[in-house]
Amino acid sequence: MKFVILTDTHFVARGRRIYGLDPAERLAAAIEAINRDHRDIAFVIVTGDLAHWGEDAAYENLAGVLSSLHAPTNLLMGNHDRRDAFARYFPGVKRDAAGFVQAMQVFDEATIVTLDTLNEAAPNHEGLLCAARLDFLEHALLAAPEDRPLLLFQHHPPFGTGLRYMDTIRLANPQAEWEVIARTRRPDYLFMGHLHRPVAGLWNGIPFHIQRALAHQVAFDLETEGHIPGSHEAPDYSDVGVSDGQIVIHQCSFTYAGPRFSLHDKAALDGMLG
Ligand SMILES: [Fe+2]
Repeated sequence: MKFVILTDTHFVARGRRIYGLDPAERLAAAIEAINRDHRDIAFVIVTGDLAHWGEDAAYENLAGVLSSLHAPTNLLMGNHDRRDAFARYFPGVKRDAAGFVQAMQVFDEATIVTLDTLNEAAPNHEGLLCAARLDFLEHALLAAPEDRPLLLFQHHPPFGTGLRYMDTIRLANPQAEWEVIARTRRPDYLFMGHLHRPVAGLWNGIPFHIQRALAHQVAFDLETEGHIPGSHEAPDYSDVGVSDGQIVIHQCSFTYAGPRFSLHDKAALDGMLG
């Protein structure tokens, strides 16, 4: 199976810009590339911060732009989202028994578990997995088929990465999440958003993937604290392939508009370097 990951779309009302960017323009460009180059995907997953202020007009704008996407969507909550406003424009999105935007989907090649780490009561945007959400996670990890990879998606990382302000607004109770994982089943891969940067590594033996935002980025700066250093690095989406237990992730710089050429073309080689 194949799918595409987008994250941190930070939508605002139609026609409005944020940090000098129009998220709707960005998403339309991504959708054009996905519809053209990724026709075989099962879904596009967006790992949270769908909207920046969580207002109705932002979700209305997002729903309008997403309507041109050919593939189904799988939408997660981030710290900037608001569940009630989101639900008004995405009424079909699955929720768990407690009303959180969480689900498990079993495909032939992989199981997809999505978590809702939004804490609307947190003044500083840190994430939370409360008892009800941890209970959902435990049941999902126990129920997932053992014969195919289990891919876990959530907005907030449960660990620090050295991005100093972002580390203060990670998941507030990572130990609680780890305890559920430790006594049930270890996911084969953990996918997150929130950081607006490409970061990969290993958490308690679980490989993880975090990618650039669709909207504004966080600069590579491991010194600054007290605020989040921003940048306008070009966005990416990820093309993920899962087959026979193997997972391959390609980063796609979909706004790149420069030359494409054969590396075997001597004229191109001489021309580029000349
Ligand atoms: Fe974000």
